[in-house]
Amino acid sequence: MQSTTPTLPVPDLVAIQSLAREDMAAVDALIRRRLASDVVLINQVSEYIIGAGGKRLRPMLLLLAAGALGHRGPDAHQLAAVVEFIHTATLLHDDVVDESNLRRGRKTANAVWGNAASVLVGDFLYSRSFQLMVELERMAVMQILADTTNQIAEGEVLQLLHVRNPDTDEAAYLRVIERKTAVLFAAATRLGALLSGADEATCDALHDYGLNLGYAFQIADDVLDYASDAQTLGKNLGDDLAEGKATLPLIHAISHSDESTCARLRHAIEHGDTGALPEVLAAIHATGGLDYSRRRASEYAQAAERALDGIADNDYTMALRGLARYAVSRDH
Ligand code: IPE
Ligand code: IPE
Ligand code: MG
Ligand code: MG
Repeated sequence: MQSTTPTLPVPDLVAIQSLAREDMAAVDALIRRRLASDVVLINQVSEYIIGAGGKRLRPMLLLLAAGALGHRGPDAHQLAAVVEFIHTATLLHDDVVDESNLRRGRKTANAVWGNAASVLVGDFLYSRSFQLMVELERMAVMQILADTTNQIAEGEVLQLLHVRNPDTDEAAYLRVIERKTAVLFAAATRLGALLSGADEATCDALHDYGLNLGYAFQIADDVLDYASDAQTLGKNLGDDLAEGKATLPLIHAISHSDESTCARLRHAIEHGDTGALPEVLAAIHATGGLDYSRRRASEYAQAAERALDGIADNDYTMALRGLARYAVSRDH
């Protein structure tokens, strides 16, 4: 994705990850240890999705935010595992709701074990994350995570209300992605700041960074659904249209197409018509829907970077800045 800050190179995720490598290894070990249950199916499903990898972006954000403010250690590892558990639970649920069958380059858990197993193991991961977070015995941490998980659920339900609705506009779309995606990014970076003992203004700045990054990340994800390939993305393309989900590229195309094209695009959303994908793609290209969406994502990424302006520069803040640019230039 084109960056609007061309003087800075597009960051390499691997280089950013290397800064947090030791801490992430500790987080991964903790995740594996705390997945355990004596119910075999829980281990199978959770090992399957967590073992498939994923970018581990949210735990890394928490570690980098803490590191930027001088904090490292076991509490950060524990909360990093918590946010990845919450994320994984939402993916298990999301793939059921979206009827998706490819995730992280593998068949989805629902495609392998069915919807019931996915929903129930998602619930296990949610509740396990709450067991982990109470171990810290910090009310502020529990408050943030209780509010965040509640908002994610609201976001998913809000999105459901817009399914197959061709009148979904950009403002409605932004309200959905704030809750379903951005608030967890914001919680990760706020928690990192909180652990460091930072003052309220600094915690707010890190929250602001995470929230804007989350918007950028989800808009970029919605572009990739029309612009990547399944091999690279590890997910099927065109899933959003199949679900009747009006995301930003298509919302833009609808509001910038002639009357007859517009009517066909609306019909495609109303019917979740994957057969219309070539025509939808053509309309998105003709109206510059992908470029528009990339521009909007870049604006959020820049707002994320601006939120860090008052924070002292160090390797960790540089990595956070790098992640903001990565979020909108990534290919998976
Ligand atoms: C997928 O998140 C869900 C969205 C918010 C778009 P990621 O792209 O971070 O998923 P993994 O963890 O790397 O698989
Ligand atoms: C992901 O939404 C948001 C959550 C998991 C809460 P999407 O449905 O857009 O994500 P993908 O494309 O399936 O990863
Ligand atoms: Mg989905
Ligand atoms: Mg998607």
